[in-house]
Amino acid sequence: MAEVVVVSDQEAAGDLAAHIILDTIRRRPEAVLGLATGSTPLSTYRRLAQQVKERSLDVSHVRGFALDEYVGLPHDHPESYRSVITRDVVVPVGLNPSQIHVPDGALAGIEHAGADYEGSIADAGGIDVQLLGIGTDGHIGFNEPGSSFASLTRVKTLSEQTRRDNARFFDDQDDVPMHCITQGLATILRAGHLVLLAFGEGKAEALAGAVEGPVSASNPGSAIQLHPRVTVIADEAAASALRHVEYYRYAYAHKPSWQGF
Ligand code: GLP
Repeated sequence: MAEVVVVSDQEAAGDLAAHIILDTIRRRPEAVLGLATGSTPLSTYRRLAQQVKERSLDVSHVRGFALDEYVGLPHDHPESYRSVITRDVVVPVGLNPSQIHVPDGALAGIEHAGADYEGSIADAGGIDVQLLGIGTDGHIGFNEPGSSFASLTRVKTLSEQTRRDNARFFDDQDDVPMHCITQGLATILRAGHLVLLAFGEGKAEALAGAVEGPVSASNPGSAIQLHPRVTVIADEAAASALRHVEYYRYAYAHKPSWQGF
């Protein structure tokens, strides 16, 4: 079962997630981080940047892999995930840009971009801790409903719901690319530790499906139930549809200290 931690707000969630990452880097300075985009992980990146600065931590050996990228957007488009990861994580945290990878969404070579990305992750020895948000339709990364649990990094077609949700980052919904390249569910499940964050009522149903629903390709987030080490961090609103929330609170309150993060 995933460990579910219900927190008061996004700042508290960011604090916990950042400390999970910091603990990983402390144990392994060349840690490999799985980086998510979207609005959800922003408080984590802010807290991480602050802690790295305050403690003068050396993060020059840390490596990173983004979850996904739009297909066909120029690399320097402000909403390409390469730009977003650079702006939200690499620059503020002070990571070494040459060690941060994003799937290549350029049309030239797109047929082998997924396999190339899998090769880079394997060369790095795999991902230690993978940050995840969740879409309102239950997607993780850009694995839309129906994605195979055996899937690796590949091109997917975005659902209309996801394109609507992401239209806020573009001038017009029609500007949201139709295709993306995303780590697969099997790629995500290979990471050492999954940290899934969810905030707000709009995520309540998707989160409940992921944590407690039937394990089904129709609900990609439910893949987390197949992973032995998952931390779900949610605010009260996102946790509001969880049936066993009182047990999760009880379990977290009585967590043995030796277990650490
Ligand atoms: C996006 C990303 C996901 C993200 C999700 C939720 O489309 N591809 O990685 O988790 O949708 O986004 P947000 O955090 O902005 O709600």
